Amino acid sequence: MAFVTTKEMFKKAYEGGYAVGAFNVNNMEIIQGITEACQDQKAPLILQVSAGARKYAKQSYLVHLVEAAMEETGIDICLHLDHGDSFELCKSCIDGGFTSVMIDASSKPYEENIELTKKVVEYAHDKGVVVEAELGRLAGIEDAVVVAAGDAAFTDPDQVQDFVGRTGVDSLAIAIGTSHGAYKFKGEAKLRLDILQKVQDKLPGFPIVLHGASSVMPEYVAMCNQYGGNLGGAQGCPEDMLREAARLAVCKINIDTDLRLAMTASIRKYFVEHPEHFDPRQYLGPARDAIKEVVTHKLIHVLGCAGQA
Ligand code: G3H
Ligand code: 13P
Ligand code: ZN
Repeated sequence: MAFVTTKEMFKKAYEGGYAVGAFNVNNMEIIQGITEACQDQKAPLILQVSAGARKYAKQSYLVHLVEAAMEETGIDICLHLDHGDSFELCKSCIDGGFTSVMIDASSKPYEENIELTKKVVEYAHDKGVVVEAELGRLAGIEDAVVVAAGDAAFTDPDQVQDFVGRTGVDSLAIAIGTSHGAYKFKGEAKLRLDILQKVQDKLPGFPIVLHGASSVMPEYVAMCNQYGGNLGGAQGCPEDMLREAARLAVCKINIDTDLRLAMTASIRKYFVEHPEHFDPRQYLGPARDAIKEVVTHKLIHVLGCAGQA
């Protein structure tokens, strides 16, 4: 087993009409839950680290935890930087052993996005690392990038050939209506698969990435609320639309919020049922099991990548 890039994974995923899950990781239990599910399901895997995760857990802890997970499970893993906002951050991850980085300059003017993306691509490719970039803007908040709903913009299919040609990126994240977090749609939940189809027509065979793709699983929202949470109005991406996107050109689907909800729901339930307990292993164990359950569901029913490793 080894750290791998997404090159082979995406080629197989594109041809096979499925997507690879890219799950955000912040600590040991999350890494264990995800990797155990992928081991059991024989699924390809991308683990991604955000700037916030890097700040929280420290890069070297996460890299070594992922190495330990590969050793334990015997699976190959692509280790990816999620939403890198500068050349320096991407360089630091490339130098630290990541096999894939995202440079997210989507909030900058078009020419600046191209210039910064190209600079990262040149450095990364020289070291055998692949690069994801973004065109169009998703609403939502991550540590590195904050986009108000009103500033969100769908990807323009007429720009994608020029962008990919001039930057040399290996995959492209596009905005088709998804957004980060647990509150994705106010009214009808709908992905613009027509825009995805147009992008695919312009870039046949090229891997597309979908951010903000949690389905905000109702059972975990309900469980959070049942045990003292307050997540009224939470709404995610319909799973059948994600599956359809995976049959088209989407080769990587990013999921973080669903893991957060499952982990939190499990811990809330545990404390309500066992108010006298205080050993972290007693509530982090079931939380890890909940992560594994969510990932297993995604691999089989949303991504379609079970059995494809
Ligand atoms: O897209 C963002 C991911 O959900 C990571 O979120 O920046 O809070 O770690 P974070
Ligand atoms: P969600 O908030 O929908 O899980 O999206 C995660 C993501 O896009 C990470 O980059
Ligand atoms: Zn994202």
